[in-house]
Amino acid sequence: KKETKKRPTLITDVNSVEGNICLVDELKNIFEVAITSAYPDLKDPPVVITLSGNNPKFGDYQCNSAMAISQMLKANNVKTNPREVANNILNKTPTSPFIERIEVAGAGFLNIYINKMIAEHILNCILRFGVKPPPVKKEKVVVDFSAPNIAKEMHVGHLRSTIIGESICRVLEFLGHDVLRINHLGDWGTQFGMLIAHLQDQFPDYKTHSPPISDLQAFYKESKKRFDTDEEFKKRAYACVVALQAGQPDYIAAWKLICEVSRQEFQKIYDRLDISIIDRGESFYNERMHVVVKQLKDGGFLENDEGRLIMWGDPDKHDSIPLTVVKSDGGYTYDTSDMATIKQRVEEEKADRFVYVTDAGQATHFVVIEACARRAGILKGDQRMEHVGFGVVLGEDKKKFKTRSGDTIKLIKLLDEGLKRALDKLVEKGRDKVLTPEELKRAQEAIAYGCIKYADLSHNRVNDYVFSFDKMLDDKGNTAVYLLYALTRIRSIARTAQISEEQLQAEVEKSGFKFDHEAEWKLGKVLLRFPEIILKVSSDLYLHSLCEYLYEISSAFTEFYDKCYCIEKDKEGKIVKIIYERLMLCEITARVMEKCLFLLGIKTVSKM
Ligand code: ARG
Repeated sequence: KKETKKRPTLITDVNSVEGNICLVDELKNIFEVAITSAYPDLKDPPVVITLSGNNPKFGDYQCNSAMAISQMLKANNVKTNPREVANNILNKTPTSPFIERIEVAGAGFLNIYINKMIAEHILNCILRFGVKPPPVKKEKVVVDFSAPNIAKEMHVGHLRSTIIGESICRVLEFLGHDVLRINHLGDWGTQFGMLIAHLQDQFPDYKTHSPPISDLQAFYKESKKRFDTDEEFKKRAYACVVALQAGQPDYIAAWKLICEVSRQEFQKIYDRLDISIIDRGESFYNERMHVVVKQLKDGGFLENDEGRLIMWGDPDKHDSIPLTVVKSDGGYTYDTSDMATIKQRVEEEKADRFVYVTDAGQATHFVVIEACARRAGILKGDQRMEHVGFGVVLGEDKKKFKTRSGDTIKLIKLLDEGLKRALDKLVEKGRDKVLTPEELKRAQEAIAYGCIKYADLSHNRVNDYVFSFDKMLDDKGNTAVYLLYALTRIRSIARTAQISEEQLQAEVEKSGFKFDHEAEWKLGKVLLRFPEIILKVSSDLYLHSLCEYLYEISSAFTEFYDKCYCIEKDKEGKIVKIIYERLMLCEITARVMEKCLFLLGIKTVSKM
């Protein structure tokens, strides 16, 4: 029986088009209709739409399906060639308000010329209503990110997770998804036994006086040392774990205290980087772990392996590694907690998508967790579990990021250095003489934190990346500083012309935006791709495409601004002519850039 795929509905009414339309998707729909009506018997013909590149004689977009379809037809013994196929597709292409004309070129390319009127309409929508997200089916998404471990260092890996996770949340929230931002803190486990035992010795009155533990790392190291060398202490540490797990109030209080001290340290980082996240550490799943272990036991999913209980993702193919669900001493593991976690997120949060942002080293862990969760029926159907993995942070010597003395780098110190360097940069440019102290401080923070975030996000996250303040603070090239400067410059154009936002808005209402120069069209086409980029990022969670897009906007803007003047001045510098359409294009550019920077978690400033 022939399966009939539903044909996409095409847009025919220009007035139904809004500023958030994804142009390339509409083109795909149009050519899907064209191709299926030209070749109704062909199964799943490819519909390939790409940008045409820089030469205007190849149109704005291209449909490159003809070559592949010609091959498919030849395989079915139909005699044809790509040019003929292209012409057949062309003949079947429905008229659309999006397309001005189509040409068959070269070996069978279909060059598509976008209708400038609809492009103007879309850009006018952005001027009137702002930068709006493309419509999507709304989902509930749990984003598990940051997740440092209590009483241990929050290291540069956690910094990456924090920066990437925050940005993913912003993108998904912008699209209207219901996002639960979860900090899966490492706040449970046997290490708390030794921490509590050490706390009891060092600060016997910890219940009435909050202990002044300023350096929890040192505290951790001391207790670890005692644990490793002192048998008596080790025994007590184990007893503390038992008491803690049994929920004895004193021990719970001591545990909470230690968590609190750590958490305050983490919060300093979150405040500076403008991160919002809800704490829900491993301890939250304490009871739930018993429940999920019982479920897995009852389901017959667990195997005894020399005393420990393990679970395979695929019981017939033992090619990956199994989960350790229960250790031989009866204790639970990181695996157990993540099984309880996924169950909670599916059943209690009723989420559709589960995102985990951790270093790439944990990729296998999440693959196996997903396989086991599916096997046990905890994760079902189209519920999506995704591991957003990232590479390690390297120093400029391409080795693991360390201080000169070989210690791990304290994050707060790193942020402080960023602040210092950002200020140096501003002073070097003499900005301290132009800006007010408040403006200077705002610029300094925007640059420092912005550059750290952007350097991270602009690299493909799966790769290792080299942390270099010199590179990230360079104001040429694809950096936050460059983009922030570009944005302030764009914002200053209307200010120089002494045109207020209200005046510009009045012009929008009166005549609206229209294209004139070729460089305007080039910039306009880049701006029109915003919905496409956002959809792509929200699906593959690779934020560097958003950074590349920002850089592309700013390059297209530079070209436009070189070729097209927005205001004309006479010899005395008096403004004699204002080209409002171009100021409008500046406004749209600034708005799209601001939105992108916001989604990357980067604060913008009006002056720097
Ligand atoms: N605390 C872990 C670490 O530092 C990350 C936890 C990630 N989340 C999870 N559900 N496993 O590596």
